[in-house]
Amino acid sequence: MAVSTKYPLVDKIRQSPPVDLSIPYDPAWLKGKTILITGGASGFGAGFVRKWAANGATVVIGDINVQKGDSLVRNVQKETGNSSVHFVHCDVTDWQSQVNLFKEAVRLSPHGGIDTVVANAGIAGEDPLQKPGKLDAAEPPKPDFKIIDVNLNGVLYTTHLAFFYLPRNPGSTDCNASSDPTINPRDRHLLLLGSIASLAPIPIQPQYGAAKHAVLGLFRSLRSSSFVQGVRINLLCPYFIDTPIVTTGARIALAGGALGKVEDVVDAATRFTADSRILGRSLVIGPKLNVRQEENGEWALIAKDSPEGQGTAIWEAYAEDWEDSEAFCRNLVGALNAFQKTRGWVGWAKDIIGAVGYGLGFIRR
Ligand SMILES: NC(=O)c1ccc[n+]([C@@H]2O[C@H](COP(=O)([O-])OP(=O)(O)OC[C@H]3O[C@@H](n4cnc5c(N)ncnc54)[C@H](O)[C@@H]3O)[C@@H](O)[C@H]2O)c1
Repeated sequence: MAVSTKYPLVDKIRQSPPVDLSIPYDPAWLKGKTILITGGASGFGAGFVRKWAANGATVVIGDINVQKGDSLVRNVQKETGNSSVHFVHCDVTDWQSQVNLFKEAVRLSPHGGIDTVVANAGIAGEDPLQKPGKLDAAEPPKPDFKIIDVNLNGVLYTTHLAFFYLPRNPGSTDCNASSDPTINPRDRHLLLLGSIASLAPIPIQPQYGAAKHAVLGLFRSLRSSSFVQGVRINLLCPYFIDTPIVTTGARIALAGGALGKVEDVVDAATRFTADSRILGRSLVIGPKLNVRQEENGEWALIAKDSPEGQGTAIWEAYAEDWEDSEAFCRNLVGALNAFQKTRGWVGWAKDIIGAVGYGLGFIRR
């Protein structure tokens, strides 16, 4: 008899099944939600605001670019007739600035809470990491690691605040894969912006690659434990997409390849945000390809004009972390489940004292 070595934790961490992209979602499920987006004044953020405001959400964007943010909000209000679109100046590298953004979002929210937080702000550009100058000076100058400050520390601040505000969202309950997005718009959703640079190496952008790998690590860790706070976490990993963050140099390097489209990133983000049944999943978004699914489930690239294929720009990624696990994770997730079932810290502390006492031989049953 074969001995199974698999210890699936998928159910215990409340991860939902792989996203079936052939099943439509309804953007109208966004109606009445309050959504906070960092770095919402440009690129993906601007695309999210347009789509989500048009579908009746309250959207609060925080960005350092006041001019772009203000004018985007005014235009979206005019285009959609939705006056619940707001801009707040925010520098994500500044803790107090993010606190102000979250407080303002709660104040502006018609129901006094936040349903989705999108940790979107990000920068790329020249990276000084491999160019240390003047290190022979008596006092070597401190390097400017701004890309890490924005793309990692900023995201950690946003995540920390999301874990404060989302569980306090009035009318929300613990997220779960059998919720009905048509019934209750209240949610507790954190959407992270990774990148293809979360999954693959990226030359001459070491801070960007490090930060986006870190965001992937953050996602993979949090999705195993965010059920304790009833929060769902999802991740977007776009390939190079046509927004201002893609520098001229990168565009030249990409010559002959294809840039993806903002509308496909907006589509993936809207699915995650509207459909509260999706927990702990990630989607990769790239240029549209013509593909066919083989019998073994693998996707095969086929000729662009072949009628046999289907055009897709969105793919599921990193789905299988928790289909097998080792003792450390298994025990921790087990303990977190036990914790969630107890009546709170007091019950948890009693259990731990009991377990330690039992281990030391003070308590015998
Ligand atoms: N476009 C792509 O090819 C691509 C691919 C993968 C991932 N991403 C990620 O998507 C996210 C959005 O990027 P985008 O393509 O829309 O770029 P973008 O440059 O159009 O938008 C980024 C926004 O972040 C804002 N921002 C920068 N620093 C900030 C700070 N300190 N505080 C607050 N806001 C700040 C900018 O003002 C801008 O509005 C980023 O995290 C980026 O790394 C982009």
